[in-house]
Amino acid sequence: MKFGKKHALITGSGKRLGRSLAENLLKQGMNISAHFFQSQSEINELKQWAKDLGLGQVVPVQADLTDFEQVERLAEQVHDSLGPVDLLVNSASDFYPTPFGATTESEWDHLLNLNLKAPFFLTQKLSVHMSHGGNVIFISDVHASRPIQRFAPYCATKAGLLALTKSLAQELAPKIRVNSISPGTILPPEKATHEQIHRASERSLLKRVGTPQDLWNGLLFLCRNEYITGFDLIIDGGRALS
Ligand SMILES: NC(=O)c1ccc[n+]([C@@H]2O[C@H](COP(=O)([O-])OP(=O)(O)OC[C@H]3O[C@@H](n4cnc5c(N)ncnc54)[C@H](OP(=O)(O)O)[C@@H]3O)[C@@H](O)[C@H]2O)c1
Repeated sequence: MKFGKKHALITGSGKRLGRSLAENLLKQGMNISAHFFQSQSEINELKQWAKDLGLGQVVPVQADLTDFEQVERLAEQVHDSLGPVDLLVNSASDFYPTPFGATTESEWDHLLNLNLKAPFFLTQKLSVHMSHGGNVIFISDVHASRPIQRFAPYCATKAGLLALTKSLAQELAPKIRVNSISPGTILPPEKATHEQIHRASERSLLKRVGTPQDLWNGLLFLCRNEYITGFDLIIDGGRALS
């Protein structure tokens, strides 16, 4: 895929990894539908940053992706404002412990709706307009296939994305490629202690946590290699093997 002036939707693009991917795609000349939920001021900053540097357009779009009607509305708004999407990056998600015996139905529904159902239906609704071709990337997690204790629903949602990657690659070929990325620790949770970050580094074979650049390199590889679909790219410094 060649980037210039094409249209990408990145969910959760106000901060952290989604933000970094949005900035990198803007630097490649793309126009961005910048989805956010609560990070309105961060999205305004992103828009101003792109304007100051003379980069592509940033069109902010707000939606709570746990709400199906808002998912549908997001797909319509994105298409109406910048036209068919060439690249959909499903990055928005939530991540919190749900000890097995204490997991509630509302936690289950929240994680499933946001992390798995929304990416499925966004892909369904946006792919209809990708008759010229397109790319879909699901951001999964190395813990999809190597679960962490006390996070069963989260791990199940990310494993579901790996299944969707293969199913939707079949459904949408040959025009649309569907791939996923499974990061290890790239940006630790904002509340993580130095000790937790050190432990995460030690658990990887390469003895460090990843960087947003590592994730970007992976996304670039999947977008540029037009003979790859239905593939999960693990970017975890060897965490899954340790
Ligand atoms: N960080 C890592 O090291 C790491 C490791 C493995 C996998 N991943 C995966 O990589 C992706 C990005 O990670 P991250 O750490 O940057 O994510 P994050 O900080 O946990 O959150 C990503 C975004 O999700 C959005 N979000 C939360 N609740 C939402 C809702 N109800 N509706 C719509 N959007 C909502 C937030 O938008 P607002 O800010 O606008 O509210 C937030 O910006 C995620 O899919 C994550 O699972 C990350």
